Amino acid sequence: MRDSYDPLLQKYRKTAYNIHPLLFNRWSPRSMSGEKMTEEELLPLFEAASFAPSSYNAQPWKFVYAKRDDADWNQFFSLLVEFNQNWVKNAAALILVISRETFEHNNKPSVTHSFDAGAAWMSLALEGTYRGYVVHGMQGFDYQKAKELLRIPEPYAVEAMIAIGKPAQKSALSNELQKIEVPSTRKPLQEIIHLGAF
Ligand SMILES: Cc1cc2nc3c(=O)[nH]c(=O)nc-3n(C[C@H](O)[C@H](O)[C@H](O)COP(=O)(O)O)c2cc1C
Repeated sequence: MRDSYDPLLQKYRKTAYNIHPLLFNRWSPRSMSGEKMTEEELLPLFEAASFAPSSYNAQPWKFVYAKRDDADWNQFFSLLVEFNQNWVKNAAALILVISRETFEHNNKPSVTHSFDAGAAWMSLALEGTYRGYVVHGMQGFDYQKAKELLRIPEPYAVEAMIAIGKPAQKSALSNELQKIEVPSTRKPLQEIIHLGAF
């Protein structure tokens, strides 16, 4: 992982202020090599996720996952919409992110379980980026089928899926996907902050 802004990303992204290069350089490519990843390579990413902050430190997130050579891989893969299957076929691991809708200590509803799970996913994504992997979040899958097929119990909500893999050249993608293998831009700071009431 480089310790300065990546020149590729600098073509698309501008910052008004110097932020940490890890934040600037994280993006969601789709090109992956199809290589496997070991548990030893994956577990540090989950550990990073576990260090996210959460309301009451409830840590409501859970990660249900399969590696590409696991028996369950096909079930995870079958949940995805066709568009995502076209590139996720070269991923090394698929993760379903779920979060507990109630607090374990009193079973009362947690207002922020999804917010907390979002923080955990970002920690995972940053650790993965730091280690040189592709980490790509997805909502393009069947949420209901995910609950059934992967036997997600109440009171867990299905949040998103994540594809992780080792990076590959853009040319590993189909022509159609190569066209959109471009780092995303960001709204200017002034569009997202409001000093005082909205
Ligand atoms: C929760 C979530 C769901 C997403 N769903 C998909 C998806 O189903 N398929 C896909 O190709 N990209 C998906 N993306 C990728 C986003 O389009 C991408 O993260 C966004 O454009 C920001 O770009 P960046 O991650 O490269 O900075 C998703 C990202 C997030 C965070």
